[in-house]
Amino acid sequence: MTLLSSPGQAAPSEHTPAVLALSRQCREVAMAAARAVQAPLTEVFRSRMDVDTKVDFHDIVTIHDKATEERLIAFILREMPDSAILGEEGGATGSGRVQWYVDPIDGTANFARGLAFWCISIGAVVDGDIVAGAILDPVSGAMFSADLTGAWLGDAPLRSRAAAHEREAVLITGYPVARDLRLDGRADALENFAQLTETFSTLRRPGSAALSIAHVAAGWADAAAGFGVNPWDVTAAILILKQAGGSYHPLTLGKVAAGSRDYLCPGYVALGEGADYPTFTRIAQGISDQRDAARARL
Ligand code: IPD
Ligand code: CA
Ligand code: CA
Repeated sequence: MTLLSSPGQAAPSEHTPAVLALSRQCREVAMAAARAVQAPLTEVFRSRMDVDTKVDFHDIVTIHDKATEERLIAFILREMPDSAILGEEGGATGSGRVQWYVDPIDGTANFARGLAFWCISIGAVVDGDIVAGAILDPVSGAMFSADLTGAWLGDAPLRSRAAAHEREAVLITGYPVARDLRLDGRADALENFAQLTETFSTLRRPGSAALSIAHVAAGWADAAAGFGVNPWDVTAAILILKQAGGSYHPLTLGKVAAGSRDYLCPGYVALGEGADYPTFTRIAQGISDQRDAARARL
């Protein structure tokens, strides 16, 4: 079974100087916005905080998610007024040439409890293409970023590298969460999980889709997968991964049409450079195909 591959990044020479300049500017703004909320978030991390729930009791939110998003939006609109912003907490704000996708805290369950695996994720799209992204891990200070000319960890170029084979590789996935058990059937979902656990050297469930993909981009993990993500989770991460040499394979999962933009797809397989993982690919694509088929029967 072959995974759909989202188109690779065009070489910088294929973009006009104006688009390249805009891409660089968006990366700078995304990084500066993320840095502006770093201290307020690290100050409250591991303090007592109330949590609220959204869709169900697995989906939690804190006052810091909303407050951070408002700060990020104000920052971006001040720097680049020609912007439309879609944030996880507040929906759409503004209108303009640059479409931003903002997740103020990706990995809220970790943030709220005190586990240091969460991030700020900010991606920018122009004319349907991702042009810039920044992912900041506020606790470690790691800033992953990309524009149309490259990807960086801080100021250093970012390069992904993965183990060639599954038996030597580390896979990050939260699959299955309760929703996956419901959608795929408990037995099938747990069988998928069992096969992945047996196939890979190590399987981890740290949370935060954006930070997980950033780890693959940095060569700190070999592969990642998600089966219920939104554009604010993945837009920045997709460009960072691709510009670091990795590959991103979107999954439609019965929710969007085949051929939809990768950042609008609800699922993904992210592979570090050099990865050839047939079991993983078959299972992930199988989950997506099964959900597509279930949707078609409705
Ligand atoms: C979630 C996290 C989680 C992923 C979900 C996301 P949130 O974002 O990234 O790891 O599995 O798909 O919605 O709610 O922590 O911003
Ligand atoms: Ca998120
Ligand atoms: Ca979030």
